[in-house]
Amino acid sequence: LDNGLARTPPMGWMHWQRFRCVTDCAAYPDDCISEKLFRDMADHMVSDGFKDAGYEYVMIDDCWASKERDNVTGRLQPNPDRFPSGIKALANYIHDKGLKFGIYADYGTLTCAGYPGSIDHLELDAQTFADWGVDYLKFDGCNSDVMTMESGYSLMSAYLNATGRPIAYSCSWPAYQEPIGIHPNYEQMSKVCNSWRNWDDIDDSWGNVTNILSWFSKNQDRIAKYSGPGHWNDPDMLIIGNYGLSYEQAKSQMAIWSIMAAPLIMSVDLRTIEAQFRDILLNKEVIAINQDSLGVQGRLELTKDKIDFWIKPIKPIVDDYLSYAIGLLSNRVDGYPYRVNFTLSDLNLVNGNGYMIRDIYDSVTIGEIIKPDDVLFIRVKPSGTVLLTATPLSSSKTVTRI
Ligand code: GLA
Repeated sequence: LDNGLARTPPMGWMHWQRFRCVTDCAAYPDDCISEKLFRDMADHMVSDGFKDAGYEYVMIDDCWASKERDNVTGRLQPNPDRFPSGIKALANYIHDKGLKFGIYADYGTLTCAGYPGSIDHLELDAQTFADWGVDYLKFDGCNSDVMTMESGYSLMSAYLNATGRPIAYSCSWPAYQEPIGIHPNYEQMSKVCNSWRNWDDIDDSWGNVTNILSWFSKNQDRIAKYSGPGHWNDPDMLIIGNYGLSYEQAKSQMAIWSIMAAPLIMSVDLRTIEAQFRDILLNKEVIAINQDSLGVQGRLELTKDKIDFWIKPIKPIVDDYLSYAIGLLSNRVDGYPYRVNFTLSDLNLVNGNGYMIRDIYDSVTIGEIIKPDDVLFIRVKPSGTVLLTATPLSSSKTVTRI
């Protein structure tokens, strides 16, 4: 969507994966979906370096609303016990921290968790969100007619645009069409949405991460071309720092999401996240790969010895040769760092002058001049990822002055 937003993949925090639909604030005051939760997260986004690293949106997912619309205006309204100050006040709080504010709604009659849907109120809801100061809308698709999504999501996009407020628009329409075998119209989607959820929800396990990666790699030739500045495929939230991923698996999710130019949307308790996971989320060089201005979605290029080689073209471009981020993701379970060998030409990196190869997580240069047919030996831990960058070298030109 060419609205000036999401020129690089959106970065932020969203509550769903970690906090779901906890509404009992008496029993769970720190975890329930309430204005306190989002204020706490905004505070930590600023104080713990997330904002400086590029994470900007603080986003409410489902379960914020009252079960009834306002009976006079017909507007959505927040649950008064959990959001006593109102949504606009929360948006102001977040804006005052220099962050942006996102909210969730649903194209159907009810949201996935059973709160009021937008189907008969698209224009009013778009206006309400603009009035509240919303900067990002996740528009889900439960309880709706999937066959009308292309036109319905496009209409909502037009209503958002008509408010005059820049609102990044995240569509869930493919996540409802792909699983029933319909190939959504991504061409149209890239014109009316800033990002879209293609496939199943992520849950808190490595198995979920690998299932999502397997769907994305199987469908990459069809979908990757629709990702780019202003419009992104979205494999769902980062689950780094929660209960389900080991340290190595967390590095893997961060690396491959970055190679896929995926939105980097954390869903973790920033108040209690362990330092080692926080450092993964804050890794500036990995984020730079994700946010590279070419905006190309990477792809699974090769699988060898159960190691997946994911590659993404990035800047700088030297003598017409692209740089690349290369993620070696191990699907092995044989308990030791497996030594895989490969050449850059196996990955179609063919600059005859060679490449400088850097290991991003270890912060070391592992080869100053690696030619396309030089054999590299890399050790990859089980379910871990080694993330490399390959920067092309220029031909050494001698300048002769007369
Ligand atoms: C769907 C979405 C999730 C989340 C829930 C909320 O399952 O895909 O990301 O928003 O609804 O109910």
